Amino acid sequence: MKPFRLLSLLILLFAVPVFAAGELTERLAACTVCHGEHGEGRAGAEYYPHLAGKPAGYLLRQLRAFRDGDRRYAQMGWLMRNMDDAYLQAIAEHFAALPPRPPARATATRPPDPVLAQRAQTLLAKGDATRAIPACIACHGEQLAGLEPAIPGLLGLPEEYVVAQFGGWRAGVRRTPAPDCMAQIARALDASEIRAIAHWLSAQQQAEPQRPAPAGTLVPPQACAGLPDSAAQVLP
Ligand code: HEC
Ligand code: HEC
Repeated sequence: MKPFRLLSLLILLFAVPVFAAGELTERLAACTVCHGEHGEGRAGAEYYPHLAGKPAGYLLRQLRAFRDGDRRYAQMGWLMRNMDDAYLQAIAEHFAALPPRPPARATATRPPDPVLAQRAQTLLAKGDATRAIPACIACHGEQLAGLEPAIPGLLGLPEEYVVAQFGGWRAGVRRTPAPDCMAQIARALDASEIRAIAHWLSAQQQAEPQRPAPAGTLVPPQACAGLPDSAAQVLP
């Protein structure tokens, strides 16, 4: 091998990992303006979701979905364009490993309506069998803290963000391959129920931030795309 070739090879072998690590940090700096310094969400912002401590499998699915057009949000799609899966995996693992953001502050901006709050709690804890709506806790966990590796926790999400996600599922601009559990649920709920759930979730205070429950500690009542025990494991 010519010395020049050997030198280029060596440079490539040693420089690439260092460059990649530096590049990752640099790319992540672009996220802080909207998602906070440590993925904790942005204080006082009604829309930007936190990322810290969410299951890595869940985050990876979202990043891929933004890139591939299965979840549409202009800025996120633009940021993820051209990023390969290995890169998205590194980003997902980075945020999953951060301590869950301290969710002491509730994000709700007005006091709850007692009737709607009750309706929300019933749907979260029991669902509605007459309309084939499973209880949210059956998949998101008794504490709504989520389940590794692919179901996110629900507490501490901004109200407007949750309402928008349900709108996205209903309109088909946030989707997974079938069975798309959340799209089915979103279509079965009516607008006032979605608003009630979103408000209730955003109004909860948590003393301690919680990590998603370990994989396998809960068996979801039905198969959803992307869940490990589901028939449709293929990622979007
Ligand atoms: C200009 C603001 C902005 C920037 C910069 C930004 N995001 Fe986002 N991000 C958003 C918004 C808004 C949403 C919610 C979009 C929606 O409603 O679907 C989001 C959603 C996400 C989600 C899905 C969260 C969930 O719980 O489903 C992930 C993951 C994410 N962003 C990662 C990143 C990463 C990684 C970066 C940096 C490379 C980044 N974002 C930069 C605004 C931004
Ligand atoms: C059968 C299992 C299942 C049930 C029941 C379920 N979910 Fe989900 N949920 C999921 C999965 C899986 C995801 C991740 C979807 C994805 O990868 O985009 C999710 C995602 C979500 C998200 C997105 C969070 C974020 O950060 O963007 C919200 C909000 C949500 N669910 C709310 C609910 C509510 C409210 C209920 C009850 C009315 C409910 N879910 C019931 C499986 C379920």
